[in-house]
Amino acid sequence: MTAYNVAVIVGSLRKEAFSLRIANALAKLAPPSLKLDIVTLHGLSFFNQDLEANPPADWVAFRDRIRPVDAVLFVTPEYNRSVPGVLKNAIDVGSRPYGQSVFNGKPGGVISNSPGAIGGFGANHHLRQSLMFLNIAVLQQPEAYAGGVGDAFDDKGELTKESLRGFLDNYMTAFAAWVAQQKK
Ligand SMILES: Cc1cc2nc3c(=O)[nH]c(=O)nc-3n(C[C@H](O)[C@H](O)[C@H](O)COP(=O)(O)O)c2cc1C
Repeated sequence: MTAYNVAVIVGSLRKEAFSLRIANALAKLAPPSLKLDIVTLHGLSFFNQDLEANPPADWVAFRDRIRPVDAVLFVTPEYNRSVPGVLKNAIDVGSRPYGQSVFNGKPGGVISNSPGAIGGFGANHHLRQSLMFLNIAVLQQPEAYAGGVGDAFDDKGELTKESLRGFLDNYMTAFAAWVAQQKK
């Protein structure tokens, strides 16, 4: 069976981030057709167009990590009803130089999450706006707004909430089918 490489880009730098915990849970739930690489954004410096001719090593490393993968999956919290700055910065870094975006044409997915009830709906849709421009083919259904994640993990960060596990499991099944269809 073909295994597709998926970069799971985490939109929080927090050590105990729910977003990172969800990404780790996804790596365990993913079907064998997907190989997940969890990408955190620590140390990725701010995009500055002045540096394009001689890009910092951390930009080059990020671009080199994303370019070869088959698909990208974003797991993000919501900050002020939008995308956290670190994640928007990563999108900007990966999208340039103009015409050389590492995201172009890849299948993608978005899982937003929050301890609150709305599950990061605002972040999810603001992110989709950028992904559409970047020509990422984003899975439309099921949508993934994971609310109430505050009691979903134990002290070690393991997913314990069965309703969230079922939801993520279902999402990954759909995402695997989407990636396979797009890569045909
Ligand atoms: C700057 C900031 C803005 C936030 N804005 C929102 C928001 O708009 N919606 C929401 O549901 N939670 C919001 N929160 C709460 C986050 O959902 C919560 O801190 C969450 O744990 C962050 O995700 P993480 O666990 O992946 O780091 C905000 C938190 C911070 C620090």
